[in-house]
Amino acid sequence: MKKALITGITGQDGCYLAKLLLSKNYKVYGAQRRNTGFKHWRLEEFGIANQIKFLDIDLNEPYNIEKAINNILPDEIYNLAAMSFVSLSFDQPQVTTLTNSLGVLNILEVIRNKYPEIKFYQASTSEMFGKVTETPQNETTRFYPRSPYGCSKAFAHYLTVNYRESYNLFACSGILFNHESPIRGEEFVTRKITKGLVEWLNTGKILELGNLDSYRDWGHAQDFVKAMWLMLQQDEADDYVISTGTKTQVKDFVRKCLDELNIKYTFEGNEVLDDKGNYIIKTNPKLYRPAEVDLLIGDSTKAQKKLNWQPKHSLDSLVKEMIKIELKRYEKKNIFLI
Ligand code: NAP
Ligand code: GDD
Repeated sequence: MKKALITGITGQDGCYLAKLLLSKNYKVYGAQRRNTGFKHWRLEEFGIANQIKFLDIDLNEPYNIEKAINNILPDEIYNLAAMSFVSLSFDQPQVTTLTNSLGVLNILEVIRNKYPEIKFYQASTSEMFGKVTETPQNETTRFYPRSPYGCSKAFAHYLTVNYRESYNLFACSGILFNHESPIRGEEFVTRKITKGLVEWLNTGKILELGNLDSYRDWGHAQDFVKAMWLMLQQDEADDYVISTGTKTQVKDFVRKCLDELNIKYTFEGNEVLDDKGNYIIKTNPKLYRPAEVDLLIGDSTKAQKKLNWQPKHSLDSLVKEMIKIELKRYEKKNIFLI
């Protein structure tokens, strides 16, 4: 039985990856940080919380990382833990950098010094491309990060590559484009929209959004965690872009959700009204970022060829699934996503 340690087990990807590894008969160890309480709601919705062995690890504490690895001796480590909200990174650049950059160094140092045979996955991001220098973006596209988050992840990406080359570690960096699901954090725009529109439908509460003009390459988290696992099953460690190769404007994601909910609407600029002239969505300038990433669209040819990876979900099926679960959640119906 293989043993995997997943940091960020309480997040969206941690949950989907845990589900995948359990289905492949792994023993799954989940690293969680002890702050204001444990956030197991995702793992509980998936019905897998009781199959995971939890450990207390904050990425900023090198000693507890080392202690956990000593105890578990995992075959694979998936480092998904991060301060992952781009917007917040402008207000909390130091916490972002400590966790997303030095936290990765803390893990890599334990691997290099004590357990060089452990396979390591680093959760890198299309945010590193930022103000893109070519379209679509692939593994050789120059990084031009536009936020403290993007900068912190670029550091961790280069560190992963450097430790692989310097110490011959099996360390991979997955450059993942945006991926969503019904268990996406409520602060991210797709989930904020699906949740906000269902709330508007039931209460009339107006949804406030920021810049709707940017484009993202949105995939489904379930497809993307499969790519993480595939990277660690290859003969050689490498870095891969994971994306769907289609771009959608935030405004069009809003349209798709409104249509799915059968809401009649008109746009006035970036604001949305219903057929009686009531506001559904208003713009809040405070939600604009000091620097925006206007366009992300990935070229995952390398992953398709070498990993034999393909996304199975489309954006339309993702929207349908997110709205369906959101409606169920609002009615407080029992949600069992498996
Ligand atoms: P998420 O839902 O925000 O989950 C982040 C996880 O990191 C949570 O479990 C969080 O724990 C944990 N964490 C934060 N700070 C920590 C610390 N100091 N020590 C230990 N754990 C800490 O993020 P996600 O969407 O699953 O993404 C997973 C990873 O992929 C992240 O590294 C993200 O930056 C990266 N990524 C995501 C996307 C995407 O579109 N989803 C795309 C590219 C890359 P709490 O529950 O305690 O907060
Ligand atoms: N969050 C948020 N909230 N975003 C908004 C809002 C709002 O009210 N209104 C407009 N947006 C716009 C943002 O300005 C951005 O252009 C776009 O919606 C997407 O924002 P997010 O959903 O917050 O995602 P992100 O692209 O910034 O970052 C996500 O994807 C990265 C991969 O490219 C995160 O998951 C990162 O952790 C990940 O690395």
